[in-house]
Amino acid sequence: MLSNDDNETLCRVGKGTPMGELFRRFWLPALLTSELPVPDSGPRRLRLLGEDLVAFRDSQGRVGIIAAHCPHKLAPLYFGRNEEGGLRCIYHGWKFDVTGQCVEIPNLPASFNVAALKQKAAITGYPTREAGGFVWVYMGPRDREPQMPGFEWTAVPPEQNHVARWLQRTNWAQGMEGEIDSSHISFLHREFDPVSWGNKALVKVTAPIPPGTRDAAPVMTIRETPYGLVYGARRNNDSGDYLWRVTQWFVPMYSMIPNGEYPRSGRAWVPVDDHNVMVFNYTYRADRPFTTEEWSYLEAGPSFPPPKEPVAVELDDGYVIDTWVPLARKSNDYQLDRERQKKVNFSGISTVTDQDRALQENMPSGFGLGPGRIVDRSREMLVPSDAPVITARRILIKMAKDLQKGIEPSQPHDGKLYAPLSMSALAPQAEFDDFLAAWPAGRARVEAGDGTS
Ligand code: FES
Ligand SMILES: [Fe+2]
Repeated sequence: MLSNDDNETLCRVGKGTPMGELFRRFWLPALLTSELPVPDSGPRRLRLLGEDLVAFRDSQGRVGIIAAHCPHKLAPLYFGRNEEGGLRCIYHGWKFDVTGQCVEIPNLPASFNVAALKQKAAITGYPTREAGGFVWVYMGPRDREPQMPGFEWTAVPPEQNHVARWLQRTNWAQGMEGEIDSSHISFLHREFDPVSWGNKALVKVTAPIPPGTRDAAPVMTIRETPYGLVYGARRNNDSGDYLWRVTQWFVPMYSMIPNGEYPRSGRAWVPVDDHNVMVFNYTYRADRPFTTEEWSYLEAGPSFPPPKEPVAVELDDGYVIDTWVPLARKSNDYQLDRERQKKVNFSGISTVTDQDRALQENMPSGFGLGPGRIVDRSREMLVPSDAPVITARRILIKMAKDLQKGIEPSQPHDGKLYAPLSMSALAPQAEFDDFLAAWPAGRARVEAGDGTS
């Protein structure tokens, strides 16, 4: 459980809040590179950490993420003309470049001091980068611009990294916590016969839940690391060896899902505002490009990402963002099928991530806006298998409170911390340390990212 004060610290991400300021110390995925395919293509509406923004690629190919509204009469810049090096508001023609600088005010008399007004009319514009199929944004103090996180997937060619994003209608922490909740795999994601489920030839494409996860009471060993935490979940397995699944969580909100080989995958949980989160998924191979068949399978979205559609979504206060929404959603019970629940899998919901979302979007809210938004964590009854969640919360709340005291986080300035890779393997070792020692470069790879796979 968490006190209401700590829950507020964990969940609220607006400007000036402790967690909001902590997130503003990191580069964050903002949208997919492919959403801004060519210079002067259509802008995209975003909300990040509670701030309404618009992203566009200018005539030189530079990406801008700037305030969503024109400072003249507050018209939405989304409807603007993206032309000749900037985004022009279609109400009265004011124009802004990728930095938010106002570069033209065409509706003024010749006698007017245009230069002074242009300076005054500058709007928020955040630094951006492109890597790993995402456009990244940095929303913090200019003199503290961090390094990019050195994830392996940010450095592979585009044909080796399948990326996607979709909207989840919960607070960011509610979704992120599912990534480090090893115990739920044995229940929520259980397939009664995983081999006969789906296309056998392609099961490996998305690193499926291995059969050995049926042992519902994993023995957990958890370690705090400079990047966040790593834990090993040890399960009994029919083979006689243990099934080890080693998962990383990187501050503030990245996961690396256990897999012994490529493809590897994980997710970043980027807060839209206090009540919504954008899930950024990466499934990549560092060893070779995906085949056409594998790529089509990932695009069809049978697992991560889920089947989804591109939609302009009206958020709770009426602001609209451009995103994707899974086809299984609250209004259709996440396509729950009770027959499937009896015969095929534990949940009755077909797609792994939809299984998570069905539960996370329907937990009772303690703090307005209805189910799933900010859960009242003072009502929880946590048990030992929740240790990674408890630890991650503690780490984040401490970092956020430290920052309020002027103690800056070190992780944003050390991209190498994000190099470690997850693992999963059958092995005879009963102790986490012995398991890591037996694996080639095991400890180095999962804790510091020095090894190879
Ligand atoms: S509202 Fe944008 S130019 Fe007037
Ligand atoms: Fe899950």
